[in-house]
Amino acid sequence: MKKIDTSTSINGIKLPLCIMNASGALCSTNKELSNLLNSSSGGVVTKSCTYKSRKGNVLPRYFEWDLGSINSMGLPNYGIDFYLNFLEKKTIDKPIFLSISGLSEEENYFLIQKANQSSKVTAIELNLSCPNLIEKENMLGYDFDKISNFIENIFKFNKKPLGIKLPPYFQDIHIKNVASILNQFPIFFITCINSLPNGLFIDTNKESVVIRPKGGFGGIGGAIIKPFALANIHKFYTYLRKDIPIIGCGGISSGKDIFEHILCGASAVQIGTQFMKEGVSIFKRLKKELIFILEKKNYSSLNSFKGKLKNFQ
Ligand SMILES: Cc1cc2nc3c(=O)[nH]c(=O)nc-3n(C[C@H](O)[C@H](O)[C@H](O)COP(=O)(O)O)c2cc1C
Repeated sequence: MKKIDTSTSINGIKLPLCIMNASGALCSTNKELSNLLNSSSGGVVTKSCTYKSRKGNVLPRYFEWDLGSINSMGLPNYGIDFYLNFLEKKTIDKPIFLSISGLSEEENYFLIQKANQSSKVTAIELNLSCPNLIEKENMLGYDFDKISNFIENIFKFNKKPLGIKLPPYFQDIHIKNVASILNQFPIFFITCINSLPNGLFIDTNKESVVIRPKGGFGGIGGAIIKPFALANIHKFYTYLRKDIPIIGCGGISSGKDIFEHILCGASAVQIGTQFMKEGVSIFKRLKKELIFILEKKNYSSLNSFKGKLKNFQ
């Protein structure tokens, strides 16, 4: 039997396995990050951090059901120094993606500068798509006028591999516009998609919402968002420069889901909601399921089918 290779490369960053956690899922505390470092995930993404630590929104702020999750966390995190100090003390044998999510453009410049100084950070994942901030109604990922100038400023000083975590877009023209902006810069990768903003989940018995912040509205993740993730990945794969790899995120709970993300053009994938549900043992299960599919299809590596989604036959 052919050996099946489930490793990948994000613009030269080698991931021993193409599967990792998504930012915000069990990657905030010392314990959670240590568990991830010791797991078989192909890389580790840290909780999106700000300059100062934040408590985040009031509890309860996360709820899951069989098809997905709703959250309005409000970026609870210990501040960038906590994550950089944590990494400094560890022996690390896989790529580290430091996720940052400053509350202003200036804060993001500051965070990127700090991340640039750490030898333990392999790449920065700049989150332009947090949907749950009480203090900020608009996210930069939807502000097409501001994105270009903001990214141009970043690349005046940034030296680390830097990728951008994008929100979901629902119109072809929006993806075309964002891709044409990103294509002008040395972006290292994009990650798409973040949670679908402004969902509402209802407890029918109680006739009430299930999370407290923002009247129950929150970002939706999990199986229910997979079609939107696939659509965004495939459109970005079409419109982005071919040397900007895509990390697929959204709705993955099986090896089949990973196969579909890669078929749409993803070079690696991240798991949010399902990782929250299952914990670190998920990486072994998903790897096994992915290998099973590739064996059946007689593919020996991701490159045999990456981006090769066919039109209706
Ligand atoms: C509890 C929770 C916290 C999250 N926090 C962050 C975050 O800090 N930064 C970020 O970029 N995305 C965050 N996300 C979004 C996930 O990284 C991911 O993009 C989204 O959940 C879709 O993936 P999924 O369908 O596998 O859940 C969070 C998601 C959840 C469920």
